[in-house]
Amino acid sequence: AAIEKGGFDHFMLKEIFEQPQTIFDSLRGRLDAVQQTITLSGVEKIADKLLAADRIIIVACGTSWHAGLLAEYVIEELCRINVEVEYASEFRYRNPIITDKDVIIAVSQSGETADTLVAIENAKKQGATIFGIVNVVGSSIARLSDAGAYTHAGPEIGVASTKAFTAQLAVLYLVALKVARIKGTIEDTLYDRLSADLAKVPEYVQQILDKQDMIIRAVAAKYSDARDFLYLGRGYNFPIALEGALKLKEISYIHAEGYPAAEMKHGPIALVDENLPVVFVATKDSYHEKIVSNIQEIKARKGKVIAVVSEGDSVVTDLADDVMTVPQIHEIIAPLLSVIPLQLLSYYIGVNRGLDVDKPRNLAKSVTVE
Ligand code: G6P
Repeated sequence: AAIEKGGFDHFMLKEIFEQPQTIFDSLRGRLDAVQQTITLSGVEKIADKLLAADRIIIVACGTSWHAGLLAEYVIEELCRINVEVEYASEFRYRNPIITDKDVIIAVSQSGETADTLVAIENAKKQGATIFGIVNVVGSSIARLSDAGAYTHAGPEIGVASTKAFTAQLAVLYLVALKVARIKGTIEDTLYDRLSADLAKVPEYVQQILDKQDMIIRAVAAKYSDARDFLYLGRGYNFPIALEGALKLKEISYIHAEGYPAAEMKHGPIALVDENLPVVFVATKDSYHEKIVSNIQEIKARKGKVIAVVSEGDSVVTDLADDVMTVPQIHEIIAPLLSVIPLQLLSYYIGVNRGLDVDKPRNLAKSVTVE
């Protein structure tokens, strides 16, 4: 088993460290950063449906739902198509309105999650076109889809998803860029910039793993006894705040909540005291000034601030108790970097608490029952 883990203590850590490769594999043969073209035969296959669609519905569960939520922000911005993101378990039971003009994107690592599978089965019966973003080749969701694009994360053993999530994001960015190109809703300069930045992600993730691992271990040591955590982010980093909180609760059993940073005033701020660590996903983006003032609000109430920041951000670095740094990249792509420190933070806190991080209690890798 030690050999299977490639010298890592756990599959989860091994899988976190595989991400430069798995993101690269998910982009390879699709994104040509020199020619700045994207080849995705699945998107080309349903191009007419996508052009005619009034909306896209994304259906998923768990971590895959967080990838879907980010995709909503990205697809609406770049493709100017309405996107709805649905928890598969809710969607399948609430008699949703679906027509043959709808395109449904199902996001699933395993391709076997029962709720996601039944949700798209129902939608297909009502005439919708199904596009699958799935990791396991030949799985039920992959087979049911009319078209799709596989993530190339390789087998994910750790129950808490890491490399499958970043592979999903990589593919969803490609889908968004490709659809935007087909629809003509993106300027050439932005398309070029985003595809160039996407191509840099594997190298940047490697830099984070090389430079931040020891730092994050030390941050984890400081907060491993916390009872609760709050994760806050805005815009493209909001889904990452949700994912950071989910990762922590899954493997450390610490209660953690993710929230849109501005929404904290409507509730979570009541929890803030000197014992509450608040993780801000605060990379440099168009929301930066606003998130800085959210950080000040937490500091004024003596909360402990841990921030994911862009390299060279002295403002947040000075305000925060602890920082984890990621390279600067276009804000739309930034979530692919900002999630990495949060995965490591959860991992080290789980390990410090003596838990079986690869197999957390009560959780299953793939939920094939309701
Ligand atoms: C389970 C797993 C999660 C996963 C979710 C959705 O809850 O523990 O890691 O995100 O199912 O699974 P899927 O295979 O559909 O992505």
